[in-house]
Amino acid sequence: MSSAAWLRHFGLSASPFSKDLDDHELWLPSRRAALVGDLLEAVHARQHILLTGEPGVGKTCTLRALRARLPAADFRLTYCHNATLGRRDFYRQLCLALGLAPKATAAAVFYAVSGHIELLGKERVHPVFLLDEAHLLHQDVLDHLHVLGNYEWDQKPLLSLILVGLPELEGRMRLARNRSLWSRVHTRLRLGDALPEDTAEYLASRLGTAGKTAADLFDSGAIAMLHEATLGRLRDIDRIGTDCLRLAARRGLSRIDAALVQTAAQDAA
Ligand SMILES: Nc1ncnc2c1ncn2[C@@H]1O[C@H](COP(=O)(O)OP(=O)(O)O)[C@@H](O)[C@H]1O
Ligand SMILES: [Mg+2]
Repeated sequence: MSSAAWLRHFGLSASPFSKDLDDHELWLPSRRAALVGDLLEAVHARQHILLTGEPGVGKTCTLRALRARLPAADFRLTYCHNATLGRRDFYRQLCLALGLAPKATAAAVFYAVSGHIELLGKERVHPVFLLDEAHLLHQDVLDHLHVLGNYEWDQKPLLSLILVGLPELEGRMRLARNRSLWSRVHTRLRLGDALPEDTAEYLASRLGTAGKTAADLFDSGAIAMLHEATLGRLRDIDRIGTDCLRLAARRGLSRIDAALVQTAAQDAA
């Protein structure tokens, strides 16, 4: 069934679980808003940050909420999601992201990057380097990262690193080999799994942007089942929620019950 057909079947104005949502449409209940607040505070204090969580809990979207709240005149945010690069390519990518000519040797790259960071420091623009999927970083990149975040100026580092990744990233940071970096990461945050009421709220928020309430389309048992099947992980809710709507439309149903969620979840497994 085409997406237009099932949207029409339910009278939805847009695909409710699309990845393509505006920053201002992000779902930020109080716990998530507090996390964004902690991130903002740490960046203003020029700290390094670790943010971990299971896949699909909303880490990258939390970073988008942070980006939307950082004053552009005071902070320069560089987002790097390609964490699988070796050290040389990693620094080359950092150069490109900072608008510098890429250099041929790691030493030249390091020199260019550190000079640039010092320049930004003099201009009082604070660079924030955001490494998503950081659990994939090569060890030789991790070995050198603390050097990058280690300039002293007014007793504060000239660059904030935000390392974002799966929970095993924290275990890796705690290894003796990474202690120089880990000891400099003052803000250590975790985006935990959601509670059943979070799943219900998230569903309401996403359906709301498409012009419906959760109760219009999902029985309360269906919402509980959706939470159980997904553990409240938002990416899984998006996928199974979409499958439920498609399946229900194909069967000519106007509402989704627990049994239908179970079928959709089993098909998705
Ligand atoms: N705050 C949010 N508001 C609305 N949707 C969200 C939010 N956080 C996550 N999502 C949804 O969940 C999906 C996965 O989120 P993402 O941030 O990519 O997870 P992670 O980075 O933890 O793997 C997104 O594509 C989006 O559809
Ligand atoms: Mg992510």
